[in-house]
Amino acid sequence: MPQELRAVEWTGTGLALIDQTVLPHRTETVDVRDVDTLVDAIQRLVVRGAPAIGAAGAYGVALALIQGEREGWTDGEILAAVSRVRGARPTAVNLMVCVDRATSRLPEGVEAVLEEAAAIQREDVEANRAMGVFGADWLLDKVRLDRPLRVLTHCNTGALATAGWGTALGVIRELHARGLLEVVYADETRPLLQGSRLTAWELVQEGIPHYVQVDGAAAGTILRGEIDAAIVGADRIAANGDTANKVGTVGVALACADAGIPFLVAAPTTTVDLSTKTGDDIHIELRGEDEVLEWGGVRTAPAASRGHNPAFDVTPGRLVTALVTERGVLEVAAGQVPGEYLR
Ligand code: MRU
Repeated sequence: MPQELRAVEWTGTGLALIDQTVLPHRTETVDVRDVDTLVDAIQRLVVRGAPAIGAAGAYGVALALIQGEREGWTDGEILAAVSRVRGARPTAVNLMVCVDRATSRLPEGVEAVLEEAAAIQREDVEANRAMGVFGADWLLDKVRLDRPLRVLTHCNTGALATAGWGTALGVIRELHARGLLEVVYADETRPLLQGSRLTAWELVQEGIPHYVQVDGAAAGTILRGEIDAAIVGADRIAANGDTANKVGTVGVALACADAGIPFLVAAPTTTVDLSTKTGDDIHIELRGEDEVLEWGGVRTAPAASRGHNPAFDVTPGRLVTALVTERGVLEVAAGQVPGEYLR
C-alpha cells in the first residue's frame, strides 16, 4: 500500500475515511462532517484498528466543535458529543486516550484540536516505524535461522489500521524490506474478514508473498512447523501484559506456546493501559449476532439459532513472548510486564 494512502485524513472541512467495509473490491472514502456519521463509521468498522480509530476520534473532537458552532450547541452538548465518540467502541483504549488528548486542547479552539490530532497521527507513524525495526531486530536475534522467516498474523494491523505503515504488519514490512521474509500466513479473521479483505490487500500492494488461511487452520499450521513466529497487534494491553486483540488471537498464542515459537504483540504505548490491571478488567465488545449467523447478508444458521459474537479475546501475558512498542521490546512471558517497565 503506498504510504500516502491514509485510512484517516483531515480534508480541511471534514474527515475522509477509507471505507474498510467495501475493500478490496472497491476503494471509496466516506466524507464525515458530523458526529453521528463518525460514530456510525467507527461502529460499522468503516474505520477500524485501534490506532486508526484513535486518530479518527481525535479529529472527532474537532468535528464536535465545528458542528456545535454550526448548530448553536451549548458547551455541554459539545462535550456530550465528544463522549459519544469516545464511547463508540469499548475495547481499544487508543480511542479514549486520543479523544482525551484532543479534548485537552478544546479550550484553545478548533485549530489547536486539529493540531493535536495531526500530532497523534504523526507520532503513530513514527511509533510504527520504530516498532518495525525493534521487532525485526528482536526476531533476527532470537529466531536464528539460515533462511527467511515464515510469519503468521491475525486480523489487520497495517496502514489501514493505523495512521500509516502498521504495527505487526509494520514488523512484517520491515522484515520484507530487509529480504528476511519468506511468506506471511494471514488468518482470514472471522467474522468480518479483516485478514482476507484488508491484510491480503495490503500485502498485495507491497508485493509480499502470502497465503490467506481460515482461522481454524492456524493452530495446525503452527503445530506442523510451517511458521517461525506469529505477530499480532493489540487493542488494549493491561499492566500485567494480558492483551486484548481480535477474536481468535488467543488460539494462535496457545498454539505458539505449544510449538515453542515466539508469539509477538506489536503495539504503540498508547495501546498499553496501565490503569487496567489484568485482562479480566478489559471490556470486550460484543457485536451483533447477524455477523456470525449470516454470510453476505444471507442467513446461514438455522432461524432458531442464537449467535455469540465477541469481537476480541484476551491472551494472557504468560503467552506473550514479546511486546514490541516504540520504546523497545519487553519479554512479557519472562516477567517483563508493562506495569513495571512502561510507567
Ligand atoms: O475490530 P477491529 O478490526 O477494529 O479489530 C482490530 C484488531 O483487533 C487489531 O489487531 C488491533 O486493533 C491492532 S491494529 C494496529
